[in-house]
Amino acid sequence: MPASAATRKKIESLREEIRYHDYRYHTLDDIEIPDAEYDRLVRELKQLEEEFPELVTTDSPTQRVGAEPSETLATVEHRLPMLSLDNAFAEEELREFHARVAEKLEFEDGAPDLLYSAEPKLDGAAVSLLYENGSLVRAATRGDGTTGEDITHNVRTIESVPLRLMGDNFPETLEVRGEVFMPRAGFEAYNEKAREAGEKTFVNPRNAAAGSLRQLDAKLTAERPLDMYVYSVGLTEGATLPDRHSEIIVVLRSWGLKTCPESRVVKGVEGCLEYYDALGEKRDSLDYDIDGVVYKVDSIAMQRELGFVSRAPRWAIAHKFPAQEELTTVEDVEFQVGRTGALTPVARLTPVFVGGVTVSNATLHNIDELHRKDVRVGDTVIVRRAGDVIPEVVSVIKKRRPRETKKVELPELCPICGSHVKREDGEAVARCSGGLFCRAQRTEALKHFVSRRALDIEGLGAKLIEQLVAEDRLADPSDLFRLTTTELSQRERMGDKSADNLVRSIEQSKSTTLPRFLFALGIREVGEATAAGLASYFGSLPAIVNSSEKDLTKVPDVGPIVAKRVRNFFDEQHNLDVINKLQGLGVHWADTEPMEIAEDGPLTGRTFVITGTLPSMTRDEAKDLIQREGGKVTGSVSGKTDYLLAGEKAGSKLAKAQSLNVTVLSEADLLSLIAS
Ligand code: IVH
Repeated sequence: MPASAATRKKIESLREEIRYHDYRYHTLDDIEIPDAEYDRLVRELKQLEEEFPELVTTDSPTQRVGAEPSETLATVEHRLPMLSLDNAFAEEELREFHARVAEKLEFEDGAPDLLYSAEPKLDGAAVSLLYENGSLVRAATRGDGTTGEDITHNVRTIESVPLRLMGDNFPETLEVRGEVFMPRAGFEAYNEKAREAGEKTFVNPRNAAAGSLRQLDAKLTAERPLDMYVYSVGLTEGATLPDRHSEIIVVLRSWGLKTCPESRVVKGVEGCLEYYDALGEKRDSLDYDIDGVVYKVDSIAMQRELGFVSRAPRWAIAHKFPAQEELTTVEDVEFQVGRTGALTPVARLTPVFVGGVTVSNATLHNIDELHRKDVRVGDTVIVRRAGDVIPEVVSVIKKRRPRETKKVELPELCPICGSHVKREDGEAVARCSGGLFCRAQRTEALKHFVSRRALDIEGLGAKLIEQLVAEDRLADPSDLFRLTTTELSQRERMGDKSADNLVRSIEQSKSTTLPRFLFALGIREVGEATAAGLASYFGSLPAIVNSSEKDLTKVPDVGPIVAKRVRNFFDEQHNLDVINKLQGLGVHWADTEPMEIAEDGPLTGRTFVITGTLPSMTRDEAKDLIQREGGKVTGSVSGKTDYLLAGEKAGSKLAKAQSLNVTVLSEADLLSLIAS
């Protein structure tokens, strides 16, 4: 059946609406409707497009990832060349640039009030977007400035790039240019995942962006977290644009294109320098890499008058920031031990100025990564420091490798406490098995031990713990219970009163619960929920300590990995010693009856999710009940969920369950299900 006019209209209005919300979300970062509502719109559009495939258009929001991967990238001739920029590395060079501009424009006073658009120099890949009648028809790399490559299929997957422009006053032909980049957070997350999987990491966000854009299969690009800011206009036909660069940017934004929020109009060299300093201060906290500031004469008429020299405009210049990547040599590699005992190889470097600070240490992440990069003592390496991220060794310059280098291997024993270093199959990270016995792990372990959801010792701050560990006053958590008012009140900035309060809250913390105590021990993967599960299943600490890995997996929500972690922890004599000492000093709790889990209960094999406020029991009580009767309780609704137990004020989980046709139960329904 051909689509009716009403259907056509509906499809177009859904597209309009989705485009508008895409723009709010990806471009303005200011959402108007909840995700669920957005998903509903997309679902509705997809359904209609499936029903009427003849109505699918390439600029529909459902069509970001196209069909088949291509064999090679086609070449594209830029009708207007994509230019490069001259660089200024020092203030002096910027002043010279401005003087040339003022002279060429025949200002007699040095043009102190000349307006520039100042904007970040984004460190990604330059891309040209071509819109015909508002639809994105082509995207191309800069290439050599004259010919680039056709990357339309990939750019279409970048959600902040509109497939269709908004409004109706855009030129018939509009070419815009800008920078595609991978935000730092996405880059870090991507590399972290690759590292865990033992795969190759990206060297930096710029390479990540450029590499992603040149993929032949757009499906791969779609998985990369890319973004784009546009910063200039190329070819236009069929409309006149404003006569100031800064106003053109505003117009581009009104058509739905994303522009950099940091751009400003500034006055003269002094304004440029102020902007440069302010942006430099902000550089580390931005979510994307920048390598300088671009100043552009704001008046388009003046730009025209200034013209070009060879490949660069006379009206713009890039004022560079200190590089985020530099060369230096590896003097040594040591292993640092972190909170969870993870051993991180750290390169000791010949100090080098990079990313605005002097760096003498850089992380190598883990031993596999170190071996993959083949970093040896004596090597010349590239270090990268960008944002607040810890400096890292990016790669080795093999050509500069001296004849004598030292390879680095994982130590067998912890460099801090001498316990065995263990590495589980398939894990990239090696860890010290010393637990609380290991001094390096102690500070963090103690902070966790005293935290609110663990033993809840009020008034024992991170600073004090750090000091006490450094003074060797806290060998393990049991020493907390040996601290005296006299000793504490003699410390700097600790009066009698606060010393007294602290000792009192330490005393109070002795009376605790088994779940809190288990959580406080800081066993890897044992969070609050798992601790509570272990406590209610086994009822007492000895029962847990003496259980096998197999027994442990019988606890609802405990899988083989968690079971192994728990077993490993109690297999270390140091840990048992600490527990004994704690109990000897009066730390106590009430045991409970071990939980009887019905092997063949009414709920065996059923998976539940609980949401909202139930009339007569807490969610924890409901969870216990379900588990006792053989059921499983998980946190989020999925295709595997059998029932949603919903009380009052149930929110998104209820909506999700309904959309997946999951049976929704009230508390009364649950009780009768158990009784039946
Ligand atoms: S304007 C003629 N603005 O820098 C104007 N370029 O060295 C040339 N870039 O290939 C482009 N941020 O990749 C301009 N805000 C910005 C920029 C920027 C980064 C890059 C761009 C270009 C290179 C020129």
